Amino acid sequence: MSNDLLEIRNLNVDYLLDKGEFRAVMDVTLSIGRGELFGLAGESGCGKSTIAYAITRLSKPPAWVASGEILFDGQNLLELPQGEMQKIRWKRIGMVFQSAMNSLNPLMRIDAQFHDVLHRHTGCSKSQSRQQAEAMFKLVGIPINRVCDYPHQFSGGMRQRIVIAICLALRPELIIMDEPTTALDVVVQREILEQVVDLQRTYGFSVLFITHDLHLMAQLCHRIGVMLKGELVEVGDVRQVSQAPAHDYTRKLWNAMPQLPGRHLAGAIA
Ligand SMILES: Nc1ncnc2c1ncn2[C@@H]1O[C@H](COP(=O)(O)OP(=O)(O)O)[C@@H](O)[C@H]1O
Ligand SMILES: [Mg+2]
Repeated sequence: MSNDLLEIRNLNVDYLLDKGEFRAVMDVTLSIGRGELFGLAGESGCGKSTIAYAITRLSKPPAWVASGEILFDGQNLLELPQGEMQKIRWKRIGMVFQSAMNSLNPLMRIDAQFHDVLHRHTGCSKSQSRQQAEAMFKLVGIPINRVCDYPHQFSGGMRQRIVIAICLALRPELIIMDEPTTALDVVVQREILEQVVDLQRTYGFSVLFITHDLHLMAQLCHRIGVMLKGELVEVGDVRQVSQAPAHDYTRKLWNAMPQLPGRHLAGAIA
């Protein structure tokens, strides 16, 4: 068994536009180990989300995966029949996007939304999903007596925690977090991410963490990849990429952002 959970090989993704095609992801090759927190950084528009959508096969026209392989646990996701992919999405590969907190159904109580997702993917009963919902609420630090509340009764940070809780309840092996906390203030952002690192230690899942904030990423991840205009220009251990970046652009990216004090959270891979 390969130690890599995800291997992206020579991935090319285009946007097919009226004025011609535009290659947004160019020949990207990267791998994420089991239990690894991998960060993908780069300025807005460099192709990070395009990769996240390609992995989960949620790319929508005009996006088009032109070529490459995306091996998840040895299986090329790009070749899987739609039905097989649906079984993997959410159950084995979870996703938390920037606007995820708005993806909760405003008309449904949270316990019902947990049940909806868990029942669909695992067939569990109402009482089982209620138990899961309470257990996950505890894990993400929300009082369990709030589990029957509606989304509007929670703050943005709490709603984002709930989405993470729903995602984790399915025990995915890989979680893709695309700017998961960008919409939140820095204190809440840090609290949530510290929690994700703690949960990662408990459950051992891998994370593809996407953000334009390199400093935050450096405190969180084991390895970092840096993208520039569709290309992955640097991949390395967090120490190497932060202390001795190989690419000039990485250096610029470090200098472009104010550094907030904080310790490295992720530690070594178990
Ligand atoms: N639906 C779309 N139609 C056309 N171009 C798009 C679309 N979505 C993204 N792009 C382009 O693809 C490039 C990469 O976008 P994206 O992956 O969203 O970047 P990032 O997540 O790094 O900010 C950008 O130049 C963006 O303008
Ligand atoms: Mg994006």
